[in-house]
Amino acid sequence: MTALSELEKTSAQDPAWWRQAVVYQVYPRSFADSNGDGIGDLPGITGKVPYLRGLGVDAVWLSPFYPSALADGGYDVDDYRDVDPRIGTLEQFDELRAALHGAGIRLIVDIVPNHTSNRHVWFREALDSPPGSRARERYIFRPGRGEHGELPPSDWTSTFGGPAWEPVGDGEWYLHLFAPEQPDLNWADDEVRQEFLTTLKFWADRGVDGFRIDVAHALAKDLTEPLASQADLEADIWGGAHPLEDRDEVHDIYREWRRLFNRYDPPRTAVAEAWVPAHRRSRYASPDGLGQAFNFDLLEAGWDAAAFTGIIDKNLALARESGASSTWVLSNHDVVRHATRYALPDGTDLAAWLTGDGADPRPDEARGLRRARAATLLALALPGSAYLYQGEELGLPEVADLPADVLQDPTFLRSGGEQKGRDGCRVPLPWTSHGPTLGFGDQLAHLPVPADFGRFAVEHQETDDESTLSFYRRALAERRRLQTEESLEWLASPHPTVVAFRRPGGWTSVTNFGSSPAPMPAGSVIVSSAPVEGREVPAEATVWLLQDHPHDD
Ligand code: GLC
Ligand code: CA
Repeated sequence: MTALSELEKTSAQDPAWWRQAVVYQVYPRSFADSNGDGIGDLPGITGKVPYLRGLGVDAVWLSPFYPSALADGGYDVDDYRDVDPRIGTLEQFDELRAALHGAGIRLIVDIVPNHTSNRHVWFREALDSPPGSRARERYIFRPGRGEHGELPPSDWTSTFGGPAWEPVGDGEWYLHLFAPEQPDLNWADDEVRQEFLTTLKFWADRGVDGFRIDVAHALAKDLTEPLASQADLEADIWGGAHPLEDRDEVHDIYREWRRLFNRYDPPRTAVAEAWVPAHRRSRYASPDGLGQAFNFDLLEAGWDAAAFTGIIDKNLALARESGASSTWVLSNHDVVRHATRYALPDGTDLAAWLTGDGADPRPDEARGLRRARAATLLALALPGSAYLYQGEELGLPEVADLPADVLQDPTFLRSGGEQKGRDGCRVPLPWTSHGPTLGFGDQLAHLPVPADFGRFAVEHQETDDESTLSFYRRALAERRRLQTEESLEWLASPHPTVVAFRRPGGWTSVTNFGSSPAPMPAGSVIVSSAPVEGREVPAEATVWLLQDHPHDD
């Protein structure tokens, strides 16, 4: 690499860059395809760095790009220190990193430590080795029950459906909390621990700024016999007593990782994907652990003022407790896009709705987008970091009617077609209004891009001041200008459906969850999620105001 980039020159001065960063999640296979093979790739992302800079994000989080058979969209990793040849090369990874850093954007990569893929060299060695061998100790093998080991060691079920144990033909079974192609690693094994330290060092040395840790709550397990039953696992036994999830020992692993991260300048960051109750989350976010943890509360909440207020209060308190900043997420690659969630009646069973191809009930698209923009603007005004998912800046809806023969999610295959799974939020992005893949690539796309996605194309939104893309750009630019210390002061609300708060410097955010306009507090409007007329906050909208004299009141 030649001269130091803008970022490389200044980054050492700001070890806290992550605390209030806007992080944009790229799902590499669906972002931009540079060579027309239907699969998004690293050069495709590099080509869009100017777009990301124009959007105004602080960091990019790349979902897995490692060699993988794609049994679970890349979360089945064959080799943690390489790039899938369909996605690029290590050299192209370095080019992407340099282009992002040159544009002042940091890079976070996804680490999948709970399981490898079944094609990982360790797992192939385990299958080629007898029960009791060293190679099997890196995974979780157990003898089957019954006279010949023909029954699984326990009745546990996997996240994607079906049993969590798979027989290997010699009386032993291995554990997979996810797909059978994702055998769980044994984190009590020292070689496993060393191997991941080597992987983290490999990417940190390559200039990666941070890590997103997949299924961070499940690495430590207690498989002392007798094994609990599935019913026991489903009982409410959080707080260190669950044999598979959120065990206290898991933090020993992250303390060791933290020591490695802190050897870098600035220290490498990490964010835990930990599906644990809120009061257990701060352990993952502690400064001697990963440092930050996802909070999926807004993503799980309906369109409701009281729910939002409660979630914000609770998570800001938790952040203070852990010393981390809070995180805010409305969409990611695992859930129905928020423009669609808000278009459906509150309480809709989303899995059942997807099974019906999204026909019943019909989403109210305009309402969904209106609310999604309002929720985003609210989230962007909060102290802490905001995680955006590719395409939400275009207002993309979920593609609920993908035909069965294109679905890739193991949830679909393992549920015998009963559940459609997550492909509907992973459809390639529309860059242009025309062409077979709307500018994603050439003729092919690994998931079909619906023709009506042309309405959402970047090309067309870029020149429209009222578009969702223009709105995101304005919001991110203003946020960058206004963001100061991590504090928030609630403002008295004229109505229970109005949520209003102020940040230091007179920056005020008001969200009207109601269906008729609400009075607007003093100040000049700087961004709004919907057109403003007079001194009213439109229905289902958020407005940011700047108090002219922040200290007068
Ligand atoms: C995480 C990922 C999800 C994946 C699972 C198994 O929840 O976000 O996409 O299927 O882990 O790795
Ligand atoms: Ca490609």
